[in-house]
Amino acid sequence: MTASVLMCRPDHFGIEYEINPWMHVAVKVDHALAEAQWDALYRTYLDLGVEVELATPVAGLPDMVFTANAAVLWDDRAVLSNFHHPERQGEEVHWRQELERRGFDVHELPRALSFEGAGDALFVGDRLFCGYGFRTDRDSHRPVARILEVDFVSLELIDPRFYHLDTCFCPLDATNVLAAPDAFAPESLRVIRDLVPNLIEVPVEVAAGFACNAMPLGRHVLSSLTISQLEAPLKAAGYTPIPHAMGEFLKAGGGVRCLSLPLGDGERGKALDHDAEPPG
Ligand code: ARG
Repeated sequence: MTASVLMCRPDHFGIEYEINPWMHVAVKVDHALAEAQWDALYRTYLDLGVEVELATPVAGLPDMVFTANAAVLWDDRAVLSNFHHPERQGEEVHWRQELERRGFDVHELPRALSFEGAGDALFVGDRLFCGYGFRTDRDSHRPVARILEVDFVSLELIDPRFYHLDTCFCPLDATNVLAAPDAFAPESLRVIRDLVPNLIEVPVEVAAGFACNAMPLGRHVLSSLTISQLEAPLKAAGYTPIPHAMGEFLKAGGGVRCLSLPLGDGERGKALDHDAEPPG
């Protein structure tokens, strides 16, 4: 099976509202640069043998580039996001269509529960690690896990810069996980330390460059520029970082992982972890 990732071209990307501490409407996006940065990531996926599927960008939904927030996926099931902020709720109907068109069985949570998809829900092996504190409600975790029929743990995020779990936590495989300890409540950090065989601790200033907002592919880890500062621990775990300039997307509080929703997880996703070839 071919590994595949869902992306969305930044045609309508911009900073039109402020829903996280990185966003400032006064700071304009350089559109040509955003396109070039997006394109470089897209090309790296293609070079690594990943199939990139493209969601249709919608005018007036500037954060649709961040496909990670569409839903959490496991095998052929999807739990659709209920965005916390009204500014992003208009995306939901489009994500449902994009996922149904690709054969997913799309489930919804009760409207009252906020849940922001793979931005706040990441698998380490077969267990779903779910974040809460800023966007996703803790009470959404159990119903999400029930729909997907997986085990889960809840992790409390405490630093508003790391408002989604994928900004401070990145499973590389079932053993190795990148995480910024400062982003988590002490009890949640204990849970991580108990459950993760090899935790690669990321200093908060490196994480603030969105290094943890990363995509493992085979033995590579794609991320923003500060991933270079993790070269030694990544090497020790058998990985090579591939840094990408993501400056225009950092203005919106997003990096490599936010721009990429792996379309396979569970059995479907094994290919993404293990079969991707190094660039030729
Ligand atoms: N501006 C977007 C928001 O605040 C960024 C989303 C980043 N996505 C992610 N998976 N962390 O919702």
